[in-house]
Amino acid sequence: MCGIVGVVGHKNARDILMQGLEKLEYRGYDSAGIFVTSAQQGVQETGQLIKSVGRIADLREKIGIDVAGTAGIGHTRWATHGKPAAHNAHPHTSSDGRFVLVHNGVIENYLALKQDYLSADHFDGETDTEVAVHLIAALAEQEGLDTLEAFKKALTLIEGSYAFALMDRTRPDVIYVAKNKSPLLIGLGDGYHMVCSDAMAMIRETSEFMEIHDHELVILTKDTVEIHDLAGNIVSRESYTAELDLSDIGKGTYPFYMLKEIDEQPAVMRKLSQVYADENGQVTVDQGIIEALVNADRIYIIAAGTSYHAGYASKYLLEELTEKPVELGIASEWGYNMPRLSDKPFFIFLSQSGETADSRQVLVKVNALGLPSLTVTNVPGSTLSREASFTMLLHAGPEIAVASTKAYTAQIATLAFLAKAVGTAIQNDKAQAFDIVHELSIVAQTIETTLSEKAWIENKITGLLATTRNAFYIGRGQDYYVSMEASLKLKEISYIQCEGFAAGELKHGTIALIEDQTPVIALISNNPKVAAHTRGNVSEVVARGASVVTIVERAAAIDGDDIIVNTVHPYLSSIAMVVPTQLIAYYASLHRGLDVDKPRNLAKSVTVE
Ligand code: F6R
Repeated sequence: MCGIVGVVGHKNARDILMQGLEKLEYRGYDSAGIFVTSAQQGVQETGQLIKSVGRIADLREKIGIDVAGTAGIGHTRWATHGKPAAHNAHPHTSSDGRFVLVHNGVIENYLALKQDYLSADHFDGETDTEVAVHLIAALAEQEGLDTLEAFKKALTLIEGSYAFALMDRTRPDVIYVAKNKSPLLIGLGDGYHMVCSDAMAMIRETSEFMEIHDHELVILTKDTVEIHDLAGNIVSRESYTAELDLSDIGKGTYPFYMLKEIDEQPAVMRKLSQVYADENGQVTVDQGIIEALVNADRIYIIAAGTSYHAGYASKYLLEELTEKPVELGIASEWGYNMPRLSDKPFFIFLSQSGETADSRQVLVKVNALGLPSLTVTNVPGSTLSREASFTMLLHAGPEIAVASTKAYTAQIATLAFLAKAVGTAIQNDKAQAFDIVHELSIVAQTIETTLSEKAWIENKITGLLATTRNAFYIGRGQDYYVSMEASLKLKEISYIQCEGFAAGELKHGTIALIEDQTPVIALISNNPKVAAHTRGNVSEVVARGASVVTIVERAAAIDGDDIIVNTVHPYLSSIAMVVPTQLIAYYASLHRGLDVDKPRNLAKSVTVE
């Protein structure tokens, strides 16, 4: 949700900002802007402010070669207050133009601040950010505060989440930075410093980073990084080197990141076996995590969207091997509606980004209760990772397409290693018999086979989904959980209204929606207990005119099935079965002429509640 980048002391600030924004575009892409100035102490600079509605490419078109400087801040927006429009785009300025601000987050009391402190001010747009920059200016002017003190005071008045980068045209050699709940970190360069929402956007310039914690304020110049807490104490902090690979964030020859990321899944499965097992196939999960789980009486998985679906897909496996009940929680619900917990709960936060605000608000409560927690995430050092008791990484490499694919399959595989480790520790027979490294290698091969049949899959669904307004995925058991994810993937990038349904539940009402040529995609993995029933449900919708496509594990396939997936271990079937549905969503979006990687209204990292 919104991306921030800032640089001070670099001879080509404009290009640094624009390259950074391009890398951050996954965080929001309805409008963007940059402010560029020259970072010379004592020299008052007017600087240049350019904003545009639309994508970074639209902003780029407005930026001429005359826009040059050595410092600046930039922003790509995902609208929360005020529609996408140039006047709502960041950076925002104070009335006198002195202060320039970019912001990610939501200022909850912005209307009260406007009324209490800024009733005489004129505002160009409707954003909470514009209120913040006016407030800083008002405090500086009315109370005679310098920029740092005015900023600090504003932070004590502001309620909500924020990552701020502020510039003062009278001190163009400084960027003032602060954060609460929204991600932001410092990049350390040789003779320049940066600030950014995501390390990925800075890795061209540096691999040396410094964290900023909530309620801290940072003063950044080309040579210094000074961290203050709100009480004014200076905080000392070590920097760290991040192992990010520039080639990971490129698209290569792929038309879209999503296709690249779908294709990377076999490699991710193999990587996880290297990370979570030794050369003898023994699982190597952190002993502290295993002990905490062994001592628990119930596992609570908290997540949102695709990660929530990955939690469901892992429930059966976790319950079978750990012998503990697993309960799923939608993060945005549990934040304010936590149900009665068991005596010894253990929380697992599943999050690709590790920054999801909805999940974090639950983690804050879990920490306040003193309960143990594990974050399973793709992003080392992310907020959820830092704040949970333990972390397991997904090792999927950066996931850039907004629609999550390889993180979903990596989440299930990582939880499979966890289940195996805990099950082995408690001498569960099924866990001991489950050769996860071998089974995951079969999954990797199965995915490769599915990927080699892309043209077939594309051909099967192109006509079916070309113009339809709605569709259904149906399945039972594990296939139902995959249906939930498959339908989310289809709707978010093709805009087809799609429901993932428990196949047996259709006849209790929803079957009324099936009419001539309604697309229904049925998932049938190799589970004899349910496959025949799902086939019965397929017959029911066919009888009502539905156009059905079946995705079936080979061992359960019959003549006439459409997409066959090689059979894998039942604990891991969701990983294999989801891949054709990812491709279906991809091709549906592609053939509808949509931007596969950046669907409307969405952003990759959802850092507002
Ligand atoms: C859908 C998608 C989202 C995320 C959700 C949670 O493709 O990516 O549904 O899964 O916003 O995000 P994370 O996993 O980063 O917590």
